[in-house]
Amino acid sequence: MSKVNTVGRILISEEEILRRAREIGQQITKDYKGEEVVVLGTLKGSLLWMSDVVKNINLDVKLDFIQASSYGSSTISSGVVKVGYEPSENMYNRNVIIMEDIVDTGNTLSYIVKKLEERNPKSVKICTMLDKPSRRVSDIKADYIGFEVENLFIVGYGLDYDQRFRNLPYVSYLTEEDVEAL
Ligand code: PRP
Repeated sequence: MSKVNTVGRILISEEEILRRAREIGQQITKDYKGEEVVVLGTLKGSLLWMSDVVKNINLDVKLDFIQASSYGSSTISSGVVKVGYEPSENMYNRNVIIMEDIVDTGNTLSYIVKKLEERNPKSVKICTMLDKPSRRVSDIKADYIGFEVENLFIVGYGLDYDQRFRNLPYVSYLTEEDVEAL
């Protein structure tokens, strides 16, 4: 067990996340009234947030996933996007809501949006738990944002450092000292 796990530095608590997920789910329900939506989760980070939001969407919802990775195992974005898992749902003429854990440089999302548009969906919107606008490189903006965060190395609630800490039930962050001690 690492020190970070036992210290449990909480940046955003589970209660705050659940409250925001409920608000956003209710907003999506209003915005798409009478329509069907495909919620497209980006693996692996969006899993926990996606689960919280979709429970609060009172519409005909289909779930699907895409895996597009930009990070490798370091704390610095490589800018290279690799697609692993492809969605199986038909996206033609569908309302797609991409579910992200964090928009950082925006490179992953702009790649995913471009790929999706090749399938001619009816609409594409983006819902992210966290937004880190200070790091943006690609010209992309989320439509539904849980929380804006500073330029910290975020872990927890789906987000990882070298695949660890995804299961923390809150949003936390690692300092350089934390990383050296891991
Ligand atoms: C993370 C995160 C976003 C993306 C954000 O995914 O989940 O998808 O990076 O970074 P960007 O805005 O700079 O492109 P990652 O590639 O680490 O995969 P993961 O979800 O499996 O952790």
